[in-house]
Amino acid sequence: MFEALQEGVIILNSEGKITYLNSAARRIFGVPEGASAIGKPLEKTVLGLRWDSFANSLQPGRVLSRDLEIFYPENRFLNFYLSPVGDAEDSDGAFVMLIRDITHSRRATEKKIESERLNALTLLAAGVAHELGNPLNSLTIHLQLIRRKLGKTQIDEQLSKELTTMLEVAENEISRLDSIIKQFLGAIRPSQPELAAARINDIIQESARVLTPELENRKIALVLELDPLIPEMPLDTDQMKQAFFNLIRNASQAMGAEGTLTIRSESDNQETRISFIDRGSGMSPEDLGAAFEPYHTTKGAGTGLGLLIVRRIIREHGGEIEIESEKGIGTEVTIHLPRVDKRMRFLETSSETIPAETKPNHGREATT
Ligand SMILES: Nc1ncnc2c1ncn2[C@@H]1O[C@H](COP(=O)(O)OP(=O)(O)O)[C@@H](O)[C@H]1O
Ligand SMILES: [Mg+2]
Repeated sequence: MFEALQEGVIILNSEGKITYLNSAARRIFGVPEGASAIGKPLEKTVLGLRWDSFANSLQPGRVLSRDLEIFYPENRFLNFYLSPVGDAEDSDGAFVMLIRDITHSRRATEKKIESERLNALTLLAAGVAHELGNPLNSLTIHLQLIRRKLGKTQIDEQLSKELTTMLEVAENEISRLDSIIKQFLGAIRPSQPELAAARINDIIQESARVLTPELENRKIALVLELDPLIPEMPLDTDQMKQAFFNLIRNASQAMGAEGTLTIRSESDNQETRISFIDRGSGMSPEDLGAAFEPYHTTKGAGTGLGLLIVRRIIREHGGEIEIESEKGIGTEVTIHLPRVDKRMRFLETSSETIPAETKPNHGREATT
């Protein structure tokens, strides 16, 4: 019966030595077929799980429950409880340990927390952007008033020219601010992408073209390695452009004064990949871990929203984004877009159904 269970079962004696473990426990902790764990201390099978660390809490009639994360044979989150076998008077000193794989529910919780934070952030950002709109409006109106007064006032022609130029600069800057805010709101608001058949290479080229002056200023060479055979696919061109802008900007900022940015596109039956490869500052493991966190920035004038927005756009296209980076070496950001327009998706496994990878004897084969 124990062999048929999805949960790991380990029976221990009073010294914490294993007297029995079922096949689910073997699979969870990566005990190879044929290797014997019987008669050996628990911590030999589950490295780091020391029996004496919970010996104090193990009193008859009490059940001990803990969550733990394991890294071998796979990174998984587990919950176990440990309970004496038999009741308080009639205990033979044995314990049963029941181990459940909670990786799925834990990952789902993490996703939920992330999306709640994103919602809070969206509200906040929309609020700030809205507040900025009013003073900008007022500035625009006052600049127009100044311009009108200037037209009606008799002044020196040279001075009038200079003032007009200044007004133009101010107006242009205001309209730039206005468009940044509009773009920002457009990016951060959860909007469904408007998909239309488009060529990804065209979008890459167009994004690169717009940023060419900035790259040339910094003496950054741009290398495009585009696979000409990538067919059209359903894309929201504006949103994609915005994603690429952000990635190109990040790369150029990471390289500073000079360097080479390579943008590569390639495609197979499964997916289209677009990589942005720079030889810039790279990221430390800590920075890499926090790269998608809202407001995480290492730049004085950074917003820390760029990658978050990029990931949202990519995910809305059914894709994923992946970053590889090494401090002092450089960074490679890869976007994976599924080739086929997904007309269906599997629903997340509900708690009643059993995720494939916890089925007995299939654990090694099924990885997600
Ligand atoms: N290509 C890159 N090379 C090195 N670091 C990067 C790169 N892209 C992003 N980062 C790091 O990730 C952080 C977050 O990026 P992002 O979300 O775009 O915000 P911002 O650019 O405003 O800082 C950056 O501050 C930087 O530390
Ligand atoms: Mg950025």
